[in-house]
Amino acid sequence: MSYFETVPNRKNTRSVKWDTLEEVFQSGDVLPMWVADMDFKAPEAVNNALIERAKHGVYGYTIINPEVKGSIVNWLHRRFNWKVEEEWLSFSPGVVTSLHIAVQAFTEPEDKVLIQTPVYPPFYNVIEAHNRQIVKSPLILKDDHYSIDFTDFENKLKQGVKAFILCSPHNPVGRVWTKEELQKMAELCVENDVILISDEIHADLVLGDYKHTPIATLSEDIAMQTVTCMAPSKTFNLAGLQASYIVTKHPEKRLKIDQLLKKQGLGSLNTMGSTALHAAYEHGEEWLKELLKLLNSHQEYVVEMFKTHTPELKVIPAQGTYLLWIDCSRLGMTDEELHQFMVSEARVGLNAGSSYGEEGKQFMRMNIATSRQTLEKGVKQIVKAVKHLNIQ
Ligand SMILES: Cc1ncc(COP(=O)(O)O)c(C=O)c1O
Repeated sequence: MSYFETVPNRKNTRSVKWDTLEEVFQSGDVLPMWVADMDFKAPEAVNNALIERAKHGVYGYTIINPEVKGSIVNWLHRRFNWKVEEEWLSFSPGVVTSLHIAVQAFTEPEDKVLIQTPVYPPFYNVIEAHNRQIVKSPLILKDDHYSIDFTDFENKLKQGVKAFILCSPHNPVGRVWTKEELQKMAELCVENDVILISDEIHADLVLGDYKHTPIATLSEDIAMQTVTCMAPSKTFNLAGLQASYIVTKHPEKRLKIDQLLKKQGLGSLNTMGSTALHAAYEHGEEWLKELLKLLNSHQEYVVEMFKTHTPELKVIPAQGTYLLWIDCSRLGMTDEELHQFMVSEARVGLNAGSSYGEEGKQFMRMNIATSRQTLEKGVKQIVKAVKHLNIQ
């Protein structure tokens, strides 16, 4: 039986996605297809490891031992042929925390930090929270495909940018950057002495035949310029357990990261988080393989349904992540109207594209990591509501 056939009811489990609908959408009657977590149970090996740990019943301070570090090193080697050494690893409760740390470690107040918009909203927050300046290099959308405007990217880097936060694979546009694209971005960072902060939390969630390349694997110079933030949380649905890590080859850069983590009282992992990370990386591969198959088929379903019934909605094909970026511009609505339409008429809770930057206006982001039943229900509700509009 597939790991994903039965999906537990998540209501009243203190789930952000399912239990905050009134606050977020001003309606309890929407199907939640927003926040980036999945409705699936974690792999059985993860749940068993947590149960075993809980049976012990003592939750004192916990070390991150060589077994846990080794499982990360092996994972990165097996999945990406990336040879990381245990001592390059630092630990933090989440990737957003890691981004805050990296921005503080490598830039000063008023410094410029580049991002490629539209992008995951905390990328803006981690720059502004520390009084750094956001420099945007918007992605280009042409024929349903996002690409990098390298002329703009280079010009912006040369305007005194200190750090670049890369989202790879990219949330929300779903791009898995090619080796060539990564190489070009990274070389420009090296040439212009811009620190490359690479958020690779979606690295394992790659669809079809696409391949994720950790940017730090591209050359020695690039590895020394890069701080990579990763986690098993998106891959295995462990976000609530708060366990992530940072890979930094450059010893002084790593020292800076570690000092800052320490200064904020961070740098370790909680007992259950490290237990889950270890079990997932040791035993989760088969589960992940099945998950990716399911996500591929879910995307195909949504694309086909909209193409057949509501061509006004266009899915930008996702190469990675479980988040679909949907162009709704042909509905001819303002942002507010689009949001209202999805909540009141379609009764689905999606993320508004505008929250990813102004380039995201007229888009909605849909999370497809749910049961087939929920997915079909949500998509059918959208199709019905759009048909009802009677757009000529
Ligand atoms: C690109 C990206 N980075 C970071 C995060 C969140 O990471 P964490 O929960 O580890 O802070 C997300 C969650 O959606 C994400 O999409």
